[in-house]
Amino acid sequence: MPEDPTGDPARRRIVGGQPEDGEQSAMATLRPQTLAEYDVGQRRLIDGLRVAIDAARERGEVLDHLLFDGPPGLGKTTLAHIIANEMGGRLHQTSGPALERASDLVGILTNLDSGDILFIDEIHRLPHVVEEYLYSAMEDFRIDFVVDSGPYAKTIPLELAPFTLVGATTRAGMITPPLRNRFGIFYHLDFYTPEQLALIVTRSAEILGVELDEAGAHQIARRSRGTARVVNRLLRRVRDFAQVVHDGRITEEVARQALEALGVDEEGLDDLDRKYLLALIDYYSGGPAGVNALAATLNEEQDTLEDVVEPYLLKIGFVIRTQRGRMATQRAYAHLGIDARPPEPPGPQGNLPLQ
Ligand SMILES: Nc1ncnc2c1ncn2[C@@H]1O[C@H](COP(=O)(O)OP(=O)(O)OP(=O)(O)O)[C@@H](O)[C@H]1O
Ligand SMILES: [Mg+2]
Repeated sequence: MPEDPTGDPARRRIVGGQPEDGEQSAMATLRPQTLAEYDVGQRRLIDGLRVAIDAARERGEVLDHLLFDGPPGLGKTTLAHIIANEMGGRLHQTSGPALERASDLVGILTNLDSGDILFIDEIHRLPHVVEEYLYSAMEDFRIDFVVDSGPYAKTIPLELAPFTLVGATTRAGMITPPLRNRFGIFYHLDFYTPEQLALIVTRSAEILGVELDEAGAHQIARRSRGTARVVNRLLRRVRDFAQVVHDGRITEEVARQALEALGVDEEGLDDLDRKYLLALIDYYSGGPAGVNALAATLNEEQDTLEDVVEPYLLKIGFVIRTQRGRMATQRAYAHLGIDARPPEPPGPQGNLPLQ
């Protein structure tokens, strides 16, 4: 595989799933607080949520438990905040891996007040013993907490205040059926279109007091791989560039230059995406290759490839998933300027759905 000429680790994080250091507070200012502010794309979700929230409020009941799934950076955490705001409940945030023991969860559950929202991020990574406690908590707002074991084991029944669980996952396929069945509302978040991202970046520029014209907004939006977090992140990088190299205003040309300098190409791919495609093409002759083999070749976490890199490459048709592994398509070859033919994919039944 050719040496990567732009292997600067700082650049590779442009599309990274999780917020960067120091980015948290900037992102918090840009985060929509109400459904009306969030109202860009995700039509079915917003309409459905509006009805569910209004109905629950009218009845004076808590909202049904909700599960959001979709690639990183599309707005799952934002929605949990919005739901808490709209329902007037407190938001308690935790994540699957943080809840190591049943007692961690029980501690949180027993501290909830009526109408509070419990947000569990990465809910597919909840340990099994902890997950089992959620079942009765979600269904009956009660838990039977077992203390000690063997002959000394005691069960303490605990009544909980009615609450709403909001779960978020990048891997809906890894949610166990008993847990999935206890959610009343289930939404899949889709990548945003460039037009929707242009609206989001225009709003963010207004909040940050950045001068951004329409063509500049579209230039950034087109290269943001369908992701709200990426469009905001690129805006902040382009703003720095505009300030230092130009007069601070972001036009199409300024945005283009800045993004090129950051290693973000016209499709929004960055170094890691290109390395992934090059590994698939050079090492594995275009595939099929297993994601674990690709992760080992790239010295990357398999989860990063599956959560951050692959969803967008699949979405834009640069890669397909077959039963025997990932394959690069003609579009990927053309985009990288590689003058060779990709291998023939297997028949349609060999293709796996995206999830
Ligand atoms: N519809 C929207 N309008 C405006 N901004 C949005 C919208 N959706 C998301 N964002 C912005 O995108 C950023 C990322 O959103 P969020 O943190 O909610 O993503 P996420 O789905 O929870 O990602 P992850 O899976 O990595 O936790 C936020 O800072 C938020 O401001
Ligand atoms: Mg999140």
